[in-house]
Amino acid sequence: MDGVFIALEGPDGSGKSTIMEKIVEYFKMNHIEFIRTREPGGTKIGEEIRDLLLMKDNQNMAAETEALLYAASRSQHMHEEIMPALDMGKVVLCERFILSSLAYQGIGRGLGVDRIKQINDFAIHGLRPDLTLFFDIDPRRTLIRKVGNGRGDRLEQEGVEFHNRVYDGYRRLLRECTETIEVIDATQDIEGVFNQCIYHIENTLEYKEG
Ligand code: TMP
Repeated sequence: MDGVFIALEGPDGSGKSTIMEKIVEYFKMNHIEFIRTREPGGTKIGEEIRDLLLMKDNQNMAAETEALLYAASRSQHMHEEIMPALDMGKVVLCERFILSSLAYQGIGRGLGVDRIKQINDFAIHGLRPDLTLFFDIDPRRTLIRKVGNGRGDRLEQEGVEFHNRVYDGYRRLLRECTETIEVIDATQDIEGVFNQCIYHIENTLEYKEG
């Protein structure tokens, strides 16, 4: 395995997808081989699991069911997409990975970080990104726009308290994690956020190339 695995993380509405578009353009311009993917989802099975997870009708989903479904989607994703791409030496650009489960299910839902780590370690055999970019922005600044008038998916509709817990959870995990996580000031304009991301991505690619 000699590819590079890069994950974009952060609260709902923190601008990950917008910046991902720009990173993709940058990779194409620079002829860097990559795949772009996301969680939950990224495979046919994973996208079906995503629908189950985010459907507003599924209000009665138990927290444990939710955690297992995210882990199941991730497992399929790792086997079918991520590992093969890394084995071919490609860069994997992924919106969200295990840190989302630790923050949303482990802390947001109160299931416990260690238990979420355990089910995920079973699902993905301990795989971790080489670089995680954390989009740092208070969800109170972004959610109102997304969930106003009943819009937004099941998770986005959870309410400000839940999303604050998730955000605080992320910040706690940043302090505790030993992996490479770079904090991106996501309050800046698009160009500013993009430049911060590219700075860290280039450093990681150079380091991996040795
Ligand atoms: P997205 O809107 O960023 O595509 O993600 C869908 C929702 O799923 C978002 O509210 C975050 C949530 N989520 C979790 O709760 N746990 C996870 O492990 C992942 C990957 C996402």
